[in-house]
Amino acid sequence: MKYYNSIIDTIGGTPLIKLNRVTKGIKGTVLAKVEYFNPGNSVKDRIGRKMIEDAERQGLLKPGGTIIEGTSGNTGMGLALTAITKGYKCIFTISDKQSQEKINILRALGAEVVVCPTNVSPEDPRSYYSVARKLNAEIPNSIYPNQYDNLSNTAAHYETTGPEIWQDTDGKITHFAAGVGTGGTISGVAKYLKEQNSEVISIGIDTYGSVFKKYKETGIFDENEVYPYLTEGIGEDILPRNVDFGLIDSFVKVTDKDAAVMTRRLAREEGLFVGWSCGSAMFGALEYARQHLKEGDVMVVILPDHGTRYLNKVYNDTWMKDHGFLELRSFSTARDIIRHRNGGSKLLTVDQNTTIAEAIKVFNKAGISQLPVSDGEQIVGSINDNTILNLLIEDPHTREKAVREIMGKPFMFVGLDNTVDALSSLIDKENKALLVRDETNQIHIITQHDLLMALTN
Ligand SMILES: Cc1ncc(COP(=O)(O)O)c(C=O)c1O
Repeated sequence: MKYYNSIIDTIGGTPLIKLNRVTKGIKGTVLAKVEYFNPGNSVKDRIGRKMIEDAERQGLLKPGGTIIEGTSGNTGMGLALTAITKGYKCIFTISDKQSQEKINILRALGAEVVVCPTNVSPEDPRSYYSVARKLNAEIPNSIYPNQYDNLSNTAAHYETTGPEIWQDTDGKITHFAAGVGTGGTISGVAKYLKEQNSEVISIGIDTYGSVFKKYKETGIFDENEVYPYLTEGIGEDILPRNVDFGLIDSFVKVTDKDAAVMTRRLAREEGLFVGWSCGSAMFGALEYARQHLKEGDVMVVILPDHGTRYLNKVYNDTWMKDHGFLELRSFSTARDIIRHRNGGSKLLTVDQNTTIAEAIKVFNKAGISQLPVSDGEQIVGSINDNTILNLLIEDPHTREKAVREIMGKPFMFVGLDNTVDALSSLIDKENKALLVRDETNQIHIITQHDLLMALTN
């Protein structure tokens, strides 16, 4: 029989996946270590287990104890998984800028969650650091692992993440990049890799609004570098003990916007549905790679968590637009969309007297989901694959019916100068496409797919 003794035995052993599209123009190989393959969908499962087991070994955590931690969500998840398997309670303090999804996940795992204000100094009694410390002092038989200063965090990566990368790259790794929050990932992995080969270069990814890069370069902790930013999980207004500046060769800062846009590109171009700080890590790593990577070099970039936790943020178009992160590029009107679209410009239609069976063939051949229905030169209606499917399920004889018997109203005609924004507000479940007449009176169709291409190309 092949099975694991508990969920925590599935932590680690995450895959390296080559990037093929976002790396265009870059010399060398760039590999992502995709940490959402961990059972809690993040890199922090590794440190959750290690911090708890080290506390047990040191006699700090006794049966029935309570684990209290300040966490941006992922560490809470990692701690909760190990706590559940070992019978401990969890209380987490979290700052109010973190996504609601992360808070919900922690509660789903039975943890108590205390939400604290973001924009207060770490010393402020309301900060999530201070609240965690206070709860730890008040609750008997509790521990405060403190992922920032607890060196079990770095040790977890030294013992697992680093060796996995070394083995999976066959010792060929030349560069390692990771976002820096507590610093555990970069310090632990860089320590292991540099012990194997002192030439391996480590690159820390920082955010604007965080102190790390300036501190590394000048040795000055500059409070002016600290201002609010949105990216979750990386950058700090403190210097955690887990950040070993001696092991980080250089820092690259990445804006919230560049990170958000890259996160979406990773999903759409690489199929990697990852979290926001993954976009930061990849954007910063590629910026570095563009300048420094040579043929034959192998760069590994850590992608810490999964995209589900950011569905209401970077993966939400309205949120992206509200923050000024979604730019409408060159294809910004209906005219631009039809001008730049690949493929034939002749509008594909189906005659109203065609049978449904024939119409289905047209759908399949053209690989489309909706069609205008014509009567000679006139557009008289529309059909879509969803409606046909539902009708066929109700009555298989629908196949023999004529399209006119089941068609819906014609798609709406819009002007050539409508922007993508305006067009997208007109396409919905009921109106699956729009029609435009060009300067030569030819009719073109615009679908949701066209809008998506216009927004992302
Ligand atoms: C989403 C996310 N990305 C990156 C990091 C940074 O990793 P580390 O804390 O090991 O520096 C964290 C840590 O909180 C995180 O939650």
